[in-house]
Amino acid sequence: MIPIEEINLIRNNANIVDIISSYINLEPKGKNFFGVCPFHDDHNPSMSISPEKQIYTCFVCGASGNVFTFVQDYENVSFPEAVSIVASKIGYNLQYKAKLNKPHKDLYEITDIACKYFINNLNSDLGKEAKKYLKERQLSAEIIKEFKIGIATSNNLAKLLIEKGYTEKQIIEAGIANKGDNLYDIFQNRITFPINNERGEVAGFSARIYNNEKDNKYINSRENPIFKKGSILFNYDKAKSEVNKTKSIIIVEGQFDAIRVYSLGIKNVVATMGTAFTKEHINLLKKLNVKIILMMDNDEAGEKTTVTSGEELLNSNLNVEVIRLSGQKDPDDYIIKNGEEKFKELLKNPISFFEYKLNYLKSNKDLNKSKDLANYINSVINELNKSDDEILKSVTINKLAKDYDLDKEVLLNKLIVKTKTKQKKPVEVKKKTRLSKNQKLCETVIYIMMKDIKYIKKYDRDLGYLPSKEYYQIANDILAYYKLNNDFNIADFISYAHASPYYEKVIRILNDNEALEPCYDEFDDYLGLIKKLIKEKQINKLKIEIDNETDINKRLELNDLLIKLKKESE
Ligand code: UTP
Ligand code: MN
Repeated sequence: MIPIEEINLIRNNANIVDIISSYINLEPKGKNFFGVCPFHDDHNPSMSISPEKQIYTCFVCGASGNVFTFVQDYENVSFPEAVSIVASKIGYNLQYKAKLNKPHKDLYEITDIACKYFINNLNSDLGKEAKKYLKERQLSAEIIKEFKIGIATSNNLAKLLIEKGYTEKQIIEAGIANKGDNLYDIFQNRITFPINNERGEVAGFSARIYNNEKDNKYINSRENPIFKKGSILFNYDKAKSEVNKTKSIIIVEGQFDAIRVYSLGIKNVVATMGTAFTKEHINLLKKLNVKIILMMDNDEAGEKTTVTSGEELLNSNLNVEVIRLSGQKDPDDYIIKNGEEKFKELLKNPISFFEYKLNYLKSNKDLNKSKDLANYINSVINELNKSDDEILKSVTINKLAKDYDLDKEVLLNKLIVKTKTKQKKPVEVKKKTRLSKNQKLCETVIYIMMKDIKYIKKYDRDLGYLPSKEYYQIANDILAYYKLNNDFNIADFISYAHASPYYEKVIRILNDNEALEPCYDEFDDYLGLIKKLIKEKQINKLKIEIDNETDINKRLELNDLLIKLKKESE
């Protein structure tokens, strides 16, 4: 267990806005920051982060909490692990080392050992030829170091891992060895590029030939529980904290391209590693909440990928733009041949995905032939019918009519008139818990207490009790917490309460009231109402007791009590 004082100290030193923005993109608005909530499928910035209170709340799904619960849920780790992650992010030296019950810990250990081993190889005599190759490809020593590039030489990594005590099964599962007659390394005589997961841990490798031309150019780690090409974007771990500044993310196809672009100081770049876009990729990108710039290879496959991935991204409501590279095969070649300045110029002028699509539809068509032209016009109309943008429709139709000397009315008639202006996909909205009037009353009191110690004191002095076991426990803990610390801070209270059975309720109370701030001035009235409620409950209980009492004297006694209570509650 990490002592609560230490937890609070770490929380106090970790600004929730900084920590959350290392995961998702945040925009300031008024006193607060907003981002797309990573805990439900959404594309609107429905999560608000309060620097003042150091808590976050999602108005749609109800996720709420402090910096630790965010990390806990985002990274899917335990509370103490989340505390230690936040500690390391702020450079705090936590004595407590969470007994990391991390899933697939062994696999991560193996990829980590492999990564260090490959780096060592590169820096040894064995690495001379590979170093020469990397130099020819103009990768600097700093970049080689930053991307942990190494080499796999001969068949000796699996052996080393066996010596270190890992089992054949683990080594095979980690995706870096196979078993024929014996266990053998998958990567041999290749330059190794570690592929990190979004947390920056080595999940696997992509490895390139450098001293022969016969084999496959790249081979990658076999798919395994920690390495899934479909859910990893190369350099995402580094790029995700850059996008706050750049407001965009560049997507290229190969890791070499990503490294090249990155080496120019343009760090908001990721690579798909030659695979098609998956739902997981899109989710990773959605979390960033920035514009997407597609920069695929300059070949037919790259064109196709741009179209298909652009469409998928657009369907996920992302803003997509396109940059095409002319003359060179890929961003790496383009930069090497044309230089940094030219590339940076190119970056300034992306075209919208729609514009790209229209150009794409023109390719391979001879628009002087009426059949091709008709075909083209029909596909443009088709595209327009997918869009909700009325201005875009109007501009495009005007342009088509003018460029190809067509009757505008004919074109307009082909547009489908949508009855609803916007057909937004429904977002799963949190079901509001239905509360009785009395429950609502108690929750309002608890909420106001959490917001200002003045009201904790009032509660202590004037009431000190709530008419439901759970609400009473929450209020009591708030009071106890206040008395212990002589202060009350919601963000710290969340750390304190996270393990208690009422935690969810506290979070919901925060969330429900945050949007519609209750009236603090009426706190006394609320307490009065609750007092009355308690009295009523007592009266009802007493009435039942009187009815059941057979002893006449006792009955009279109880009756007196009833009269007294009734007087009090008037
Ligand atoms: P490319 O063939 O475009 O390679 O494949 P590249 O990025 O330009 O690499 P260099 O410049 O020749 O070194 C794009 C990506 O597809 C994957 C790799 O991740 C590569 O970066 N790929 C490619 C493979 O997995 N296997 C292959 O045989 C080739
Ligand atoms: Mn290349």
